[in-house]
Amino acid sequence: MKEYTYIMIKPDGVRKGLTCEIVKRIQDKGFKIELFDVRKLNADILAEHYSHLVDKPFYPTLRDFMLSDYVVPMLVSGENAVLGMRELMGPTNSADAEEGTIRGDFGNKSFVTENVIHGSDSLENALIEIKRFFDLDLTQGEEFNFNKSDKILEFF
Ligand code: RTP
Ligand code: MG
Repeated sequence: MKEYTYIMIKPDGVRKGLTCEIVKRIQDKGFKIELFDVRKLNADILAEHYSHLVDKPFYPTLRDFMLSDYVVPMLVSGENAVLGMRELMGPTNSADAEEGTIRGDFGNKSFVTENVIHGSDSLENALIEIKRFFDLDLTQGEEFNFNKSDKILEFF
């Protein structure tokens, strides 16, 4: 089934100049980048996005990191895109990630926060995150015609 997932290069990935490399890995895996944007997040949208983590002691560190620079939100589609992107990324802690995964190759193995990339963890959360970051109502498995707008860049 054609799936949609929400991917976001985090500030460390942007600062390390990894955007093109990550785009290439996503495309080489056969996925399509439907929408691509570059923006700074604010504290409100981040607290929504990480609502499962806001009460954790490490949340202020995570928040300051995520607000520290530009991020690259992407809407990615393809067969098995949600799980396939999680595999391409590797596990949350870059120290546990295999070579060849994005986190394994580029994440900070001494600092779990700096793991380069976000990817939705379920079909359902993907749609919630796509709505949150791109204000689009999609349905998994259904074709959507992505139109260019002044807020969302289509490069690919
Ligand atoms: P993400 O949502 O960013 O794709 O990461 P994930 O699903 O692999 O992991 P999640 O549990 O959702 O955590 C979100 C992000 O919070 C940071 N984190 N820090 N113990 C810690 O200090 C800690 N645990 C998680 C990481 O940046 C993680 O990706
Ligand atoms: Mg997560």
